[in-house]
Amino acid sequence: MDLTERPRRLRTDGVRGLVSETDVRADDLIAPIFIDATADERAEIESMPRHERVPVEESVARVREITDTGVEAVMVFGIPESKDAEGSRAWAEDGAVQRAVRRITAETDVYVATDVCLCEYTDHGHCGIVEENAATDPELTVRNDATLDRLRRIAVSHADAGADMLAPSGMIDGMVGAIRDALDGAGYEDRSIMSYAAKYNSAFYGPFRDAADGAPAFGDRRHYQMDPANAREAVREVRLDVEQGADVLIVKPALAYLDIVSTLRAEFDHPIAAYNVSGEYAMLQAAAGNGWLSLEEAAYESLLSIKRAGADLILTYFAEDIADRL
Ligand code: PBG
Repeated sequence: MDLTERPRRLRTDGVRGLVSETDVRADDLIAPIFIDATADERAEIESMPRHERVPVEESVARVREITDTGVEAVMVFGIPESKDAEGSRAWAEDGAVQRAVRRITAETDVYVATDVCLCEYTDHGHCGIVEENAATDPELTVRNDATLDRLRRIAVSHADAGADMLAPSGMIDGMVGAIRDALDGAGYEDRSIMSYAAKYNSAFYGPFRDAADGAPAFGDRRHYQMDPANAREAVREVRLDVEQGADVLIVKPALAYLDIVSTLRAEFDHPIAAYNVSGEYAMLQAAAGNGWLSLEEAAYESLLSIKRAGADLILTYFAEDIADRL
């Protein structure tokens, strides 16, 4: 055979590493953690094997497990002791996230991001303030501008507790600008904003809603989260968040939306994050649990693919296991 091009020449053990284009590093990863104000002890999350809800008192121990693997950042989610229509435990000084973040920042050097949203805190489970009769009228939905005021309070309360990075996840129009303004007004110009900028109305959040007890009591999130059919709209969403001062832009979910990651990488200079969500995690865990694939190989390949598509950082429930392997 007269072949001038033989790609296999660069696939031998000696050279493969030299020519590899992408890698996953422990310092690309953010590990989500669940702090449960109602719990006295750690409890496994059934739909998310190897993840637990941990009481506030255990938050530092939980973070140390993560940093021991080489992962240097966490995303803190809270499960409150009680819920109401406003979601008022979300901005309480003694709320689950606030108490945990105070401990974590006092005792560790981990970089702390917090989820800024209302769905775990409202009794109706929506990501904002809803109209009076929203339960019976499917056209009624989250009140945008009334919700912004709550998001400002949440962000400042997290910053007061010591959070380094605020991550608004409710897909409320203007959320980034409102939070930036509130943080700057409180003297927190140094805190960054990682916006869930292109967050889709996805079925892949199912296990998380179990974990954080944040499923909507009626209706769904299609009035505020993006339609999975849309790609150009993601560019528009991200542009708006950039204009409002977002530092990092999240695409969520990750694996079914790698085209979005790739487009945004080409269009924007800002760091792009991808959220490898609970459903993506649970799928691999379930398949591996049945012996149908190798969990570690499939998880690593997933994260590598997310990097290859153009993500700079990844939020993932595999963070510890993958960092351990690296
Ligand atoms: C809160 C929030 C959700 C997730 C992250 N922040 C749930 C949702 O929007 O329904 C999902 C994370 C995951 O599935 O891993 N708004």
